[in-house]
Amino acid sequence: MLTIEATSAAPQAVECDVLGVPVLDPVDARAGALAALDAALGGKLAHLAEDGELKGGPGKVLALHTLGELAAHRVCLVGAGRSAKVDADSIRTAAARTAATITGLAGGTVAFVVDASLPVPVADQARAIVDGVVLTSFDAGRWKTIDPRPKPITRLVLVGEGLDAVVEDARRAAVVATWANRCRDLVNMPPNELYPARLGEEAVAIADRLDHLACEVMGPERLREERMGALLAVGQGSDNEQRLITLRYEPPNAVDGVVLGIVGKAITFDTGGISIKPSARMEDMKGDMAGGAAALAAAGAIAELGLPLRVITVIPSCENMPDGGSYRPGDILTARNGKTIEVTNTDAEGRLVLADALTWCREQGATHMVDLATLTGAVVIALGDYYAGLMGNDQGWVDRILAAARASGDHAWQLPFHETYRRHIGSHFADFKNSSDLRQAGPVYAASFLAEFTGEGPWAHLDIAGTGSLDRGRGDYYVNKGATGYGVRLLAALAAALAAGS
Ligand code: BES
Ligand code: MN
Ligand code: ZN
Repeated sequence: MLTIEATSAAPQAVECDVLGVPVLDPVDARAGALAALDAALGGKLAHLAEDGELKGGPGKVLALHTLGELAAHRVCLVGAGRSAKVDADSIRTAAARTAATITGLAGGTVAFVVDASLPVPVADQARAIVDGVVLTSFDAGRWKTIDPRPKPITRLVLVGEGLDAVVEDARRAAVVATWANRCRDLVNMPPNELYPARLGEEAVAIADRLDHLACEVMGPERLREERMGALLAVGQGSDNEQRLITLRYEPPNAVDGVVLGIVGKAITFDTGGISIKPSARMEDMKGDMAGGAAALAAAGAIAELGLPLRVITVIPSCENMPDGGSYRPGDILTARNGKTIEVTNTDAEGRLVLADALTWCREQGATHMVDLATLTGAVVIALGDYYAGLMGNDQGWVDRILAAARASGDHAWQLPFHETYRRHIGSHFADFKNSSDLRQAGPVYAASFLAEFTGEGPWAHLDIAGTGSLDRGRGDYYVNKGATGYGVRLLAALAAALAAGS
């Protein structure tokens, strides 16, 4: 775990393995935090700026060994871009680049300057620095046995005036970011290690060590009793049995009138089933449980923070495989809410498992629901890897999720969600079909289907197919391919806002 402190000492006097300083574009070595360092170094930073070695462009890094000239062993001057464009993500990236310079050291200390002259409030800067440092400490290569592994950073010092007031908030951000890393680890886990039963065990272990959090895991027999025909069908071709995981967080001091329902798709491997996918990059479909992993890690974060809010988390988990026992195109399923679904594509399995999970979540008492799912390739085409697609049946609820997205750095963009799209989900034979042969508005079509299973009340859907795990680094604080932990920070921010009654 990361220890966090604040100091009002001058940057040149802070002892640490690396001192990070955000640098604006154009560089002015005689302004802001740079001025004090430049003076301590006898004007050398100004020279480096004149020579073009010290730059302020976003993500530009000049890392220097100080060799005794400063109390810090290294100084990392990181570009934050033009002043008008600096946002919390610029700070996350700058802090991540700084931390990355010492991830080879055991037990390293990072210090980072909080610059009150930047256009981001200092409390937000402090949280962003924590995000950058913690998310950069994540090791995606833990199955490697040959290369040395990066070492976690153990201490963070926030450098600036009057930061005592933001330290507690920063510590809470570290709790959330650590859960985001836990989520990333689950998402990166290979499908031979992480199958539905194992995810259920992970959920039980998490609930066991946190107060007021309980976990119930249902297998196929119970799911048949509960008539979850859609969830059961998706998993019936796999030797790895289906699970429905329900976590109930019931703190004694919960606010009245709101029960947050979180639902996360957890297909531990999606081959497409009988409607099998092409083989290229099929290995990435181990990440088709990113929504479920985010839901689980968020439940952990909310419980560890002790937020005074009731939360019900539901995670439907299956493996979608082709087999003699698989469900087929043409099958007609009966979902838990009694509605019938014609399967027209077994690769549109996410909406099927979510159908039963959403019904269940509402029945368990959720007043406000949000689901996260790696649901469509089309959302990746539309929005890429920075924004998740957001749709919902209640604009007020969607707006709250947009606010949490903006505050947390898990970005979301609202897509249109209009009644007219609903005509695409009709079937000749059953109430609905699970895929349309039109190559149109895929994410909206999928959400229109989900909306039929959400019961009464506000619900929103985040399609995280593009943001849950990355094909390649994003050039910001996500440097490498693989899971991002998308949704954990957003859900924690949403829960905190609901718990605060705002
Ligand atoms: N898990 C996939 C969606 C996906 C695609 C996630 C790329 C991450 C990256 C989902 O189950 C799926 O296969 N969706 C189909 C739906 C179609 C058959 C209607 C798709 O998007 O092609
Ligand atoms: Mn699929
Ligand atoms: Zn899928």
